[in-house]
Amino acid sequence: MFLEIKDINITLGKFYLKNIDLNIEKGEYVTIIGPSGSGKSILLETIAGFYKPEKGEIYLNNENITNKSIESRHISIVYQDYMLFPHMTVYENIMYGLKKYNKNKIQNDKDINEISKLLKIDHLLQRKPLTLSGGEMQRASIARALIVKPKLLLMDEAFSALDYKIKKEMRKLLRDVAKKYQITVLHVTHDFDDVWALADKTVLLKFGKILQVGTPEEIFSQPKNECVADFVGTNILNGKVIGKEKNLTVLGINNFKLYSTDTANIGDDVRITVRPENITVAVNYEEDSAQNCINGKIEKIEKRDYLMDLKVNVNGVKFIVIITSNAYEKLNLDIGSDIYLIIKALNINLL
Ligand SMILES: Nc1ncnc2c1ncn2[C@@H]1O[C@H](COP(=O)(O)OP(=O)(O)OP(=O)(O)O)[C@@H](O)[C@H]1O
Ligand SMILES: [Mg+2]
Repeated sequence: MFLEIKDINITLGKFYLKNIDLNIEKGEYVTIIGPSGSGKSILLETIAGFYKPEKGEIYLNNENITNKSIESRHISIVYQDYMLFPHMTVYENIMYGLKKYNKNKIQNDKDINEISKLLKIDHLLQRKPLTLSGGEMQRASIARALIVKPKLLLMDEAFSALDYKIKKEMRKLLRDVAKKYQITVLHVTHDFDDVWALADKTVLLKFGKILQVGTPEEIFSQPKNECVADFVGTNILNGKVIGKEKNLTVLGINNFKLYSTDTANIGDDVRITVRPENITVAVNYEEDSAQNCINGKIEKIEKRDYLMDLKVNVNGVKFIVIITSNAYEKLNLDIGSDIYLIIKALNINLL
């Protein structure tokens, strides 16, 4: 294992990071999510060496780094607010990280040119940070972090100050660079799009504890418990297993039925989860044995950029459904509209 965090405990005032165990392989891209104040930044900064754990050990590339100095860990960290030196050019900022390595100027020039091309800032090397756009500044700070060839790249909400379009480009760029150079990344974020676009693995922290580690698919579609489901915004319903039909489990919820590919015993009380984006909306009933089609009424509508959140009441049970604004217009929906929710049996999951 490339990064091994073994049973780390930390106390900072009233806050505790509790029994953190985490294993990360070389080249893995890991996102860390969780509510504000859950300890995400403290976890990153503990790995970087700012805090000493009271208990537990951290191994990086088979070396115990628990008590090593920040400088000797070869870990780079990138923050939301760039942290570039305003009086230095981009070139000098990137160079700054290299100083202690005492390499010759020709080699440094070569390395800086290579990393700048990679991050598409080679035309900006002589500019000062304040003349750059947010995306350019963030690419410069990532270049500065990577120039020292760190064993680990840590990112603390590094993209949250960027606008939607630049964020999308940055994700692609970083994902490509990380994969090409087998860089191991731990990336704290509040943006679930970062998770879906970047993560091989996601860690969900809450109250200083890891609640679940898994692929984005696992975290969002098969949350381990209600806390996880609640945080990732999944619909949670209470139901009972009332039968089996073919390969499907039949679930009774209030006065309607749902069919799931997950298995459970007849008579079991179950918690059922459904991702909002796995629900599609239709105005007419659609018969299909592999999917559920249930009737409901739109109670509330919230508009986001390109998406709409619909609150739909099905026999007293509320569903959150996310559809595109396009679909919304096309279907001519409004508050009070009578609609059908279509959910594949595969997307009805049991906790
Ligand atoms: N040096 C410190 N001393 C005491 N408490 C601290 C210290 N640093 C952080 N905390 C507290 O620990 C908790 C976790 O902080 P942390 O910064 O890791 O949260 P976070 O998950 O990164 O949150 P956010 O998403 O808002 O950045 C917070 O309640 C914070 O106030
Ligand atoms: Mg933080």
